[in-house]
Amino acid sequence: MITSRKVKSIVEEITPEAQNIRRHLHKYPELSDLEEETASYIEAKLRMIGLDSLETNVGGHGIIGTIKGTRSENFRRLAIRADIDALPIQETCDLPYKSIHTGVMHACGHDGHTSVLLGTAAALAKLRAEFSGEVRLLFQPAEETVGGAVRMCAGGAMEGVDAVVALHGWPGMAPGRIGVRSGAMMASSDTFDIIIKGAGCHAAMPHKGIDPIVVGSMIVQALQNISSRECSPTDSVVVSVTCFNAGTAYNIIPGSAELKGTVRCLTAENRKDLPIKIERIATGICEAMRAELVFKYHLGIGMTINDQGTTDLVRVVGAEYLGAENVIELDEPSMGAEDFAAYMEYAPGTMFRLGVGVNTTNLHTPAYNFGDEAVAPGIEMFAGIALKFLNEGPE
Ligand code: NI
Repeated sequence: MITSRKVKSIVEEITPEAQNIRRHLHKYPELSDLEEETASYIEAKLRMIGLDSLETNVGGHGIIGTIKGTRSENFRRLAIRADIDALPIQETCDLPYKSIHTGVMHACGHDGHTSVLLGTAAALAKLRAEFSGEVRLLFQPAEETVGGAVRMCAGGAMEGVDAVVALHGWPGMAPGRIGVRSGAMMASSDTFDIIIKGAGCHAAMPHKGIDPIVVGSMIVQALQNISSRECSPTDSVVVSVTCFNAGTAYNIIPGSAELKGTVRCLTAENRKDLPIKIERIATGICEAMRAELVFKYHLGIGMTINDQGTTDLVRVVGAEYLGAENVIELDEPSMGAEDFAAYMEYAPGTMFRLGVGVNTTNLHTPAYNFGDEAVAPGIEMFAGIALKFLNEGPE
């Protein structure tokens, strides 16, 4: 059985190139679904590494690569996912490899995720004799706009996969540390539209119309009772109206108002019930106030619920490669969402956090940088997870 020491020495050889790759990606970021150059760059790197199969243009600019082990004890397939897209933010820091694309930058660190997975590919290609089964590398487009993962799955990304893992670079955590959690990791994210049709009139004579702004305000208030009075106090539920558009002038009561909002939760039961509760409240208030309601609910992405066995495996690998003191148990899930959840509909899996720096600015801010230091620990983790899962199976 290969030792972690041997794997670490291979990762050490590969790291400078992986760091250069990250800097290149950081310099040339591309927005969701426009990752054409990024995808060709990844493809070229994978061709240089030499994979057993390579599929491009999956679900847009996605890439699926395969590395097969040459041992034959058992056959399992592990998928590892990296997202490749950037965000519409103007970068403000003065890095030598600062984004040259105006208004676009890797503010979520997907440059890091992609370079870590390319480094993992390079490491595992050298380790083929050390594992059986295969590793499927998923380079996913359009994570930020939520949609890439579902399209990758439709393109066969998860066919025959036994487990799936991903990491997210995490500011506020030192490089060389990971954050893990079994169970709920990230929330679902769904959206709704509420259109209130009242009756417009002169503002001096409100009794001649039906004021959709007053009705909308009642709905905004009433929706707050869902998390406080209709869901268990120990459940995390977010129902927020985030847009409220109505009216054009001081002296006109408008004919209609439009609300938009987000709904987040951590359990399938809440996810199923929340649209019913929201619609019931909006319907009741509109009826009481003589307004008409148009209600639309859009299912977005599900919860990321980390599988116990796969997460335990990550813990063990983390302790082996990074040291037990660097495997941090996360106290609570995030109410943010990740389209990684889509892969977990096909196989158990886990997403863990990878420390990028204690003083790093937050994700999605104009000075964020994944940095060079987290690259090697990321590759060690992915390679270690692959070897352990394929040779020994889930924990
Ligand atoms: Ni991200």
